[in-house]
Parts: sequence; C-alpha cells; structure tokens
Amino acid sequence: MEQRENWGSRLGFIMAAAGSAVGLGNIWRFPYTAGENGGGAFILIYLGFVFVIGLSVMTAELAVGRKTSLAAVGAFKSQNKNWTFVGVLGVLSAFLILGFYPVVGGWSLAYIIKSFTGLLGSPDAIPDAFGAFISNSAEPILWLLLFLAMNVVIVAKGIASGIEKAGKVLMPLLFALLVLLAIRSVTLPGAGAGIDFLLKPDFTKVTAATFLAALGQAFFSLSLGMGIMLTYGSYLGKDQNLQQNALIITSMDTLVAILAGLAIFPALFAFGLEPTAGPGLVFVVVPTIFANMGVLGPVFSALFFIALAVAALTSSISLLETVTAYFIDQRGVGRKKAVYGIGATLVITNILSSLSMGALSGFTILGAGFFDFFDILTDKIFLAIGGLLLSIFVGWFMNKEDLRQELTNHGHIKFGLFNIWYALVKFIIPIAIAFVAVSGIISITQTSLMIFGVIVIIVLAVFSKKLA
Ligand code: PFF
Repeated sequence: MEQRENWGSRLGFIMAAAGSAVGLGNIWRFPYTAGENGGGAFILIYLGFVFVIGLSVMTAELAVGRKTSLAAVGAFKSQNKNWTFVGVLGVLSAFLILGFYPVVGGWSLAYIIKSFTGLLGSPDAIPDAFGAFISNSAEPILWLLLFLAMNVVIVAKGIASGIEKAGKVLMPLLFALLVLLAIRSVTLPGAGAGIDFLLKPDFTKVTAATFLAALGQAFFSLSLGMGIMLTYGSYLGKDQNLQQNALIITSMDTLVAILAGLAIFPALFAFGLEPTAGPGLVFVVVPTIFANMGVLGPVFSALFFIALAVAALTSSISLLETVTAYFIDQRGVGRKKAVYGIGATLVITNILSSLSMGALSGFTILGAGFFDFFDILTDKIFLAIGGLLLSIFVGWFMNKEDLRQELTNHGHIKFGLFNIWYALVKFIIPIAIAFVAVSGIISITQTSLMIFGVIVIIVLAVFSKKLA
C-alpha cells in the first residue's frame, strides 16, 4: 500500500482543521442564529452542546480517521459495508452546504469593495443597502461566481495547502479585528442592552426548536457530522494527542464565535437595530461600526471582509475537497474532471439560492426557498443525524479497547476521561441527539422538508452497499 502523506507539523494540522471549522458559521451564522433564538439562553445551550457533544464527536471522528487511515466513505466501508452510507451522507451534506455557502462568501467579497465605494458614507442607509444588494438578480451572482471560481481553481490544482498558508496570516488578523470590534462595540453608548441580551439568559424564549438550532449550529460550526474531521484525522501522525487537538480546535472555534457575538450585539443595540434581523446582521452591524470610526473606517472594514472571505474560503475548500475526494476515490473520476463537474452543478444551485433572496423569493420547495432548503436540510437534519450515526458506529460497532489504544497512543499518553467519553458516545449522545432532533423536527414549521430529509437518509441506508 502506498505510504500516506502526513501533516508536515502539528501546527499545520491545527491550522487546516481550524481553517475548516472557523468560517461563516462563526461570524455570520452564529450571531444571527443567537439573535433569532433569544440571545443568552441560546448561547448557554450552544456552549453545552459544543463541549459535551461536539468535543466528543470531534474526538471520535479523529480517532476513527487515524485508526483506519482512510477518508470518510472508505473509513466506514472498511469497518462495515452497511455503514458506507454514513460517509456518503456526509458527502451529500457537504454538497448541499456548498449550495448556499458561496452565496455568503460572495457577499463577503462584495463588501471588501463596498467598504470603499460609499457604503460607509451614509450609515443610516446600510441596512437597506444590504437588502437591496442581496435581492438584486445580477450583482450577488457575479460575486458568488467569483468565490466559487476561487474554490474550483484551488481544489482542481490540489493546492489547498497554499490557501492554508494564507490562512496562517489572515486568521490571526481576523481574530485581532474581532477583538478590536468587540472592544469598540462594548464601549459604544447604549451597548449595555446588548451585553444584557448576551449575558442574561431569557429562558422563556426557549423551545424545542431552540435546542435543535443550537445543536445544528454546533455541528455546522465545528465542521462535524460529515466526516471532514475524520478525514483530517486520517492524516495525523501516530504520536499526536487526539484528545488535546480536538479540545484546541473546539476552543478556538468557540472563541471566535463568542467574539463575533461580542462584536455584534452591543453595537446592534447601540444603533437601535433588531437582533432578529436574520442573515444580514454581520453585513449591517460591522460596516455601521466602521462608518463611525473616521478616515480609517473603510480600511478596517475592507480588512475585516478580506479576512472573512478567506475564513469562508478555507472552510468551503474543505467542503469541496470532501465531495471531490468521493468522486476520485470511490468513483474513479480524475481530479480536474470531478472538480469541474461539481463546480458546474454548484453554479446552478448557488444561483438559485441567491435568486431566492429576490426574484425567486416567492418560489418554495417543501415550504422553503432554495437558500433555506439547503441550509435547513443540512444543519437541522443531516449534520446532527450524521453525528448521531457516527456515535452509534463508534460506540456499538467498534472495539472499545481499540479505541482506548488509539486515544492513548497505545498507552503512551493518558486519557483520564476515556470511560466518560465512551459512555457519552455510546449512550448519552445518541439519545440526546435523537431527542433533540425528534422534538425539533416535530416543532419546526417546515415539517415536509424534515420528513423529506429523513426519507433521503433511509433511502441512502437501504442502498448503502451500492454507494461506494
Ligand atoms: N465550519 C464552517 C463554518 O463554521 O463556517 C462551515 C463548514 C465547513 C461546515 C465544513 C461543515 C463542514 F464540513
């Protein structure tokens, strides 16, 4: 068998995994989802899910990947052919997320330029400008095509490591800018209401849907439930400490999300905007903060959106690489052909998603517009079910001692919490996810979409052996 490449360094692995995890999910999606779900209470539930369920599932994914030395589909297949579909479900999730992610990536690119072309000149007009921009039928499409093209070129050339190098510079920059924004935001007059909104949980707003939203957000943000971390784990050296790596990635990802929340909410309240405004939050609040920062405002604003676009890019290439690897490894397609084929399909799904914000806003499938269709199907159903199935697989179909060996590097390092981790993965997490998913699915408005998602999973499971 061919010798597999390993990560050049531990830092290289952390940067790649964090590059996948830290993205639009943290900075664009987390704040508006928290805003729509009542703020502090949602955040508490989110943190609980991240550190109990997310961290355990990440540890499990890394362990399965390193143990099998195979990417997602192959890893499941090698252990048990009936489970191949879990890997394929992950590939499908990646493909569907890529149906809307580049739209928002494109918005980020557009806002780099807009920072200099008058947007910041009239702060009061910023919210309406965003609405007008995304509902336009041409402008956001050009930007999403540019974003998509960057992905296709990078993955077709197999030069993802290049962009990860860029990430090494730009991620710290993004982090620094978020710290700066957070400080500015909490010191604005009138910021107190926003701080209260974040820190004083109001549990009267919590419903089953809140729990499902928090769980979906946790999986989405940590890039879990679709075999990406599993694949990354397959490249990890045998001397690496998996538990520690999982903890570092999870903590970094969460820190960025919390910083984004601190940057957005105090300012939002200070400017008298609505926390429930939805997907526009970051594109409205951040330019408004910079608009009030004097001559350097546009420069900072542009830097912020450059860093956001790069964070989005490092995440989306991990998604595109996952779909591409499936066609290369399991279907025998060449890299270029695979990437161009997937790219062409994504052009269509993304244009539909973008138009669903404007010209096609009246058009729905199973009760949701295109953008929401891809979004809800993945992070409310597929990712959570993917995590649930992975836990069942690890807990019930893998050998406990093998897992202990893998997570302790054959006794060379300690994992004092092994038994707790194992009990979580085997019993608690499957039950918790099943409970949250079922009650969430029942309570959510797009019931037919939820049922459709479940049927897709069942069909995949039935045809599992044919999928790879
Ligand atoms: N974790 C990324 C983010 O927070 O933006 C999005 C993502 C990337 C989700 C890769 C899932 C994934 F497999």
